[in-house]
Amino acid sequence: MSSRTGAFMLLILLFFQISSVSALTNSIDAVALLALKSELAGTPKNWKGFDPCGANWVGISCSNGRVVNISLGNLNLQGKLPADISTLSELMTLDLTSNSNMTGPLPPNIGNLKKLTELNLMGCGFDGQIPESIGNLEKLTKLSLNSNKFNGKIPASMGRLSKLYWFDIADNQIEGEIPVSNGSSSPGLDMLLQTVHFHFGKNKLSGKIPKELFTSNMTLKHLLFDGNLFTGEIPESLSLVKTLVVLRLDRNRLSGEIPPSLNNLTNLQELYLSNNKFTGTIPVLTSLTTLFTLDVSNNRFTSSFLPSWISSSNLTTLRMEGIQLQGQVPISLFNPPSSLETVILKRNWLNETLDFGTSKSLRFVDLQYNDITEYKQPAKKDLKVILANNPVCPEVENPPDEYCKVVKLSSSFFAPKRKENCHRQCGQDRNLTAITCRCAYPASGILTFRSPSFSGFSDDSNFELLYNNLTGFFNNSNYRVESVSIGNIREDETEHHLLIDLLIFPLKEERFNETGMDSVISRFSTQTYKPPDRFGPYIFKANKYDKFPDEKGLKSSHIIGAILGAAVFLLLLMIAGIYALKQKKRAERANDQINPFAKWDANQNSVDAPQLMGVKAFTFEEMRKCANNFSMANDVGGGGYGQVYKGILPSGQLIAIKRAQPGSLQGALEFKTEIELLSRVHHKNVVKLLGFCFDRGEQMLVYEYIPNGSLRDSLSGKNGIRLDWTRRLRIALGSGKGLAYLHELADPPIIHRDVKSSNILLDESLAAKVADFGLSQLVEEAEKASVTAQVKGTMGYLDPEYFMTSQLTEKSDVYGFGVMMLELLTGEIPIVNGKYVVKEVKMKMNKSKKLYDLQELLDTTIISTNENLKGFEKFVDLALICVDQEGVKRPSMNEVVKEIEYIMQHAGLYPNVDSAASSRTYDEASKGSGDLYRNNSFEYSASFPTTKLEPH
Ligand SMILES: *[C@@H]1O[C@H](CO)[C@@H](O)[C@H](O)[C@H]1NC(C)=O
Ligand SMILES: *[C@@H]1O[C@H](CO)[C@@H](O)[C@H](O)[C@H]1NC(C)=O
Ligand SMILES: *[C@@H]1O[C@H](CO)[C@@H](O)[C@H](O)[C@H]1NC(C)=O
Ligand SMILES: *[C@@H]1O[C@H](CO)[C@@H](O)[C@H](O)[C@H]1NC(C)=O
Ligand SMILES: *[C@@H]1O[C@H](CO)[C@@H](O)[C@H](O)[C@H]1NC(C)=O
Repeated sequence: MSSRTGAFMLLILLFFQISSVSALTNSIDAVALLALKSELAGTPKNWKGFDPCGANWVGISCSNGRVVNISLGNLNLQGKLPADISTLSELMTLDLTSNSNMTGPLPPNIGNLKKLTELNLMGCGFDGQIPESIGNLEKLTKLSLNSNKFNGKIPASMGRLSKLYWFDIADNQIEGEIPVSNGSSSPGLDMLLQTVHFHFGKNKLSGKIPKELFTSNMTLKHLLFDGNLFTGEIPESLSLVKTLVVLRLDRNRLSGEIPPSLNNLTNLQELYLSNNKFTGTIPVLTSLTTLFTLDVSNNRFTSSFLPSWISSSNLTTLRMEGIQLQGQVPISLFNPPSSLETVILKRNWLNETLDFGTSKSLRFVDLQYNDITEYKQPAKKDLKVILANNPVCPEVENPPDEYCKVVKLSSSFFAPKRKENCHRQCGQDRNLTAITCRCAYPASGILTFRSPSFSGFSDDSNFELLYNNLTGFFNNSNYRVESVSIGNIREDETEHHLLIDLLIFPLKEERFNETGMDSVISRFSTQTYKPPDRFGPYIFKANKYDKFPDEKGLKSSHIIGAILGAAVFLLLLMIAGIYALKQKKRAERANDQINPFAKWDANQNSVDAPQLMGVKAFTFEEMRKCANNFSMANDVGGGGYGQVYKGILPSGQLIAIKRAQPGSLQGALEFKTEIELLSRVHHKNVVKLLGFCFDRGEQMLVYEYIPNGSLRDSLSGKNGIRLDWTRRLRIALGSGKGLAYLHELADPPIIHRDVKSSNILLDESLAAKVADFGLSQLVEEAEKASVTAQVKGTMGYLDPEYFMTSQLTEKSDVYGFGVMMLELLTGEIPIVNGKYVVKEVKMKMNKSKKLYDLQELLDTTIISTNENLKGFEKFVDLALICVDQEGVKRPSMNEVVKEIEYIMQHAGLYPNVDSAASSRTYDEASKGSGDLYRNNSFEYSASFPTTKLEPH
């Protein structure tokens, strides 16, 4: 477990200990889901609080307080799967289908999910190796890891998945040989006797296809090894697997003769051997009475005539491209009883006359690049023939005869046809629904059929059938949709998959909510939807859907719910997304709302102009000059929101410019509100806003430059400033005064919401200045404001009451301040190796001893000076009341300040003299480093994520 996760668990377990709230969710499961939530951005909007089962979190199903089902298909989730997920010991299905921004490796201990039966991760962005422990998932029946970025080998341990029915790892970067048990004690895939689907296509598997892989006890129907790097011959043993229906070995490097024993696979319907290096002759497959697709194209067979057995077979699709077929195409190939529909014989040596005789079924024949000299056109109208690049076609650009033109296979089938009087402009991304003729945002994606049993596109009845089947399915489903629509039917030319675009429209609403989307996606990912038999197995890869509705009409007190500290950062990420949405909507509205600043420029006295209180508006050009073209040399740090640049005004004043990057821009009104708020703040212990820039689509805030970086930097020794006891007391006092000002004197009052050592900056005389309170909300507005601008905090400093009350108050700042006081004693961040400073101090301290017997915990810097730590015990006492579990028992910041002043007076210090008598070390350090901002100490403070989880 990483220290971060450890700390997180600790915090939550602590919380559960102190919490008197009764939750339905088993606490270990709750911890795992909260970890999941904290790792992921874009989790459903109702994921609030700490009781996922009790609060019916979208996508989470519980039974007796245990999480049994996680289904989060196509919800735009972003992030990694935390190791904590493996503690969900009752979990049966985990379905994260089509979240392409879920990345990173699977947790190595995923094998602990002993009850897991389905793992559906199709269409995500996972990488790394498939963990060895996956072999411990003894109950697993369905495994879909296809269309990710997995690499490494197939773990041999997967041979122990004795219940596995569906094994899909297609479309990854998986390499190496297929592991087999080889009679030894180590497992191998030959042991998977229950497995019906081996979908391994489109990987980098290599080596020989092991003969030990196949036994007569197997129940495989689909063996899809296409698009890999396999070498060697097809093992004879393959013909033992009598159950095989689809065998794909195409697009490998296989060689040797094709074993005639393939003719024993009497259930085979599709056989793809194309694009290998097979030699010898084309096998005679007369026993395969149900074979309807045969593809042996592009191999190195001995030149021959078209095999005569094909004429009397039941084949519908024949592909024999580039295999040196010679002689005339026999008329018997097409005459009844031939059932051929699609015949691809490109790039052969076929010559003389082409005559289709009395063929009934034939739809598409491609004979490009042969030697055909004569063509007897059939009466049949719906037959498409391509004879380009044969002597029978003239070598001109636009040949007169249709059969000399090259066309692609596709179908113009589209269903349903819209009603005649249904015309409307729906605009981007929206579509007209078929039944009620509304504009709505459909769920969309591509249905891929890997082995349909029909061939060609000319027969629309197949698609009509599919359409009716889909419609019927959703009408009878307990999650109803308005309608479905299919179209753009085509073939993937390499893999010969059938691709169909599918749109699904929400019932009554304009958009799917998250529950609806997951319901729709899971119908496909779990294969609950079954297409007509002739379509065979499918996958449905959904397109990104970012149209989920905003939550409306919720009051802040209900909205926030109890959110655990570590979750906050990622929730904010989601919020940034909502902002983006809001901004889009705003763009559709009136122009003056888009740019409330436009009026300021035109008319400084206009009603809309904010009261700027000495804050200056800069143009982009001015900013660019100040910051030396935003050059690397001026870049002093940054984070997800953008960069901070050091700059110099024409007056010579140093400034710090926080430049939001495009993805982090706020709405103009929010930006304006924030500037108005910040411009009213004036206190010597609070970082001063000098100006802003809202120009050329950029948003920047200009602050005074604070040369000595953050308190955190100093405590960590990073910037060479040595903080003795006296300095620490002064810093506590200064930052306390800054906060007291924000709480009690600022108009309107401001709650900081993220008090921590990296938000306290130190100026040239080491006076503390509170920074990064931009996310603060006006206190009275806190009630009205939506969740979007509110949540903030950093693990370790976050008020435990927040978990229950969902609100941050002045007393939350006091808590953070108390933690920071303890940090001034230990020099360490609040949570180190899973140990929380608050708990540690309380546990270790002994009031009857000197320094409360806390020496062991103290920062060596203050101990080693042999300084008389005057007032130490009182300081500890004060810190501990500040971190009281109950907000009402904590003092106000004003009282805290008074107490620190009292402590200092008793220590013989003069609290109201600010100078922190400079020392050499400090002077030298401040000269040498222009870099002190380079960390999170000075993050752009707008309403998007600025907090980092700590510790790392
Ligand atoms: C994934 O992330 C990229 C870059 O952050 C973004 O452009 C894309 O829209 C995201 N896709 C989804 C499905 O969220
Ligand atoms: C197939 O199963 C039978 C009975 O379970 C067993 O006796 C036999 O050894 C197995 N054959 C192979 C090739 O594994
Ligand atoms: C294939 O079937 C024939 C009989 O049809 C049999 O003689 C031969 O042994 C079988 N081959 C395999 C590998 O099962
Ligand atoms: C074609 O299929 C029918 C049954 O659908 C079967 O009886 C017949 O033997 C098959 N013909 C060939 C040549 O395989
Ligand atoms: C057509 O090909 C066959 C076999 O290669 C050859 O015997 C025959 O002479 C060819 N016909 C013509 C007209 O070239």
